[in-house]
Amino acid sequence: MRLILLGPPGAGKGTQAAKIVEKYAIPHISTGDIFRTNISQGTELGKQAQGYMDKGLLVPDELTCGLVADRLSQEDCKVGFMLDGFPRNLFQAISLDEILKDTDTKLTKVVNIEVDKELLVARAVGRRICKSCGATFHVEFNPPKEDGVCDVCHGELYQRADDNEETVSKRIQVYLDETKPLVDYYSKQGIVASINGDQQIDKVFKDIELSLGSEK
Ligand code: AP5
Ligand code: MG
Ligand code: ZN
Repeated sequence: MRLILLGPPGAGKGTQAAKIVEKYAIPHISTGDIFRTNISQGTELGKQAQGYMDKGLLVPDELTCGLVADRLSQEDCKVGFMLDGFPRNLFQAISLDEILKDTDTKLTKVVNIEVDKELLVARAVGRRICKSCGATFHVEFNPPKEDGVCDVCHGELYQRADDNEETVSKRIQVYLDETKPLVDYYSKQGIVASINGDQQIDKVFKDIELSLGSEK
C-alpha cells in the first residue's frame, strides 16, 4: 500500500495517519514531523527549516525532496508507505513521480481529506500533542482524559509553535495556492479518494477504510 494523505492544515491527516499505519502496517512519513524532530534536536536541517515553518511557509524543495527520497529508499518502505504532508506542490509531486519510476512502483491511492476552511483554524489552535509519543488531542473536539496529560503514555502535552491563528491562516492560504492543485493532478491519474473530514474521527477512518477496499 503506497498512500498519500492530502488535506489542509488541521484536516486530520496526522490523526488518521496513526490509524492507517496501525491497520496496514506501513511506515508513516510526515515531513512536518521530520522537520520538527530536527528542530528539537538542533540539527542544521532544523535550523534551516524553522524560519519557514514559523511563518507558515513551505520549506524549500531543495531541503524537502532529498530527505523524502532518502526516507523512501529505506528498507521498511519496501512494504509500502504513507506520506503525510508530502508532496505539497507540483515540483514535489513530480519529484515523487521520479522516485516511483526509479523503483518501478506506483501510488495506490491519494486520500484527500476535505474540511471547510472555517473549521480549520479552531482545529489547529486547539490541538495538543504528546511530547513523548506524538499522540494528537484537541482541547474541545478530542480532549485527553486529564488536562495536559497524554491518554496513551501519560506524557506531557504541548502546543505546536505554528498553531496560532495568524500562522494557521497563512498555512491555509499556502495550501490553497500550492497544495490543493495536486487534487487535480492526481485526479487525472484516477487515484483520488475524497473523504469528508467533518465527521467523528472514527467515521472518517471508516470512510478511508472503505475507499481503500481490498487494496494491498
Ligand atoms: P505539517 O506538520 O504537515 O502540518 P499541516 O499540513 O499544516 O497539517 P497539520 O499537521 O497542522 O494538520 P493535520 O491534518 O495533520 O491535522 P491533525 O490530525 O493534527 O507541516 C507543518 C509545516 O512544515 C508546514 O507549514 C511547512 O512549513 C513544513 N512542511 C511540512 N511538509 C512540507 C513539505 N512537503 N514541503 C515544504 N514544507 C513542508 O488534526 C488537527 C486537530 O484537529 C487535532 O487537534 C485533532 O485532534 C483534531 N481533529 C482531527 N480530526 C478531527 C475530527 N474528525 N473531528 C474533530 N477534530 C478532529
Ligand atoms: Mg499533521
Ligand atoms: Zn503520549
